[in-house]
Amino acid sequence: MQTRINIILLVARYVMYVCICRGITESHIQAAVRDGARSMKDLRQQLGIGEECGSCGSSAKQCLREASSNQTSTSSLSYAAA
Ligand code: FES
Repeated sequence: MQTRINIILLVARYVMYVCICRGITESHIQAAVRDGARSMKDLRQQLGIGEECGSCGSSAKQCLREASSNQTSTSSLSYAAA
């Protein structure tokens, strides 16, 4: 039982949930941005984020901004390397 708890804590350390209601993590948002999501409307349509209690809205926006910023930086680096 203790091993199972330790494994859950280890996984939880590396998984940042943004929307508890829908089980959406930062990784889901990053993947959605890679797939073209650019707005909260896009995230709502693709992931259903914020459609239950809505308390994840500000965290989701921040995560979207960070993921979009990282996407832009990565694109710029790829362009510079080409
Ligand atoms: S936490 Fe996202 S809808 Fe409730």
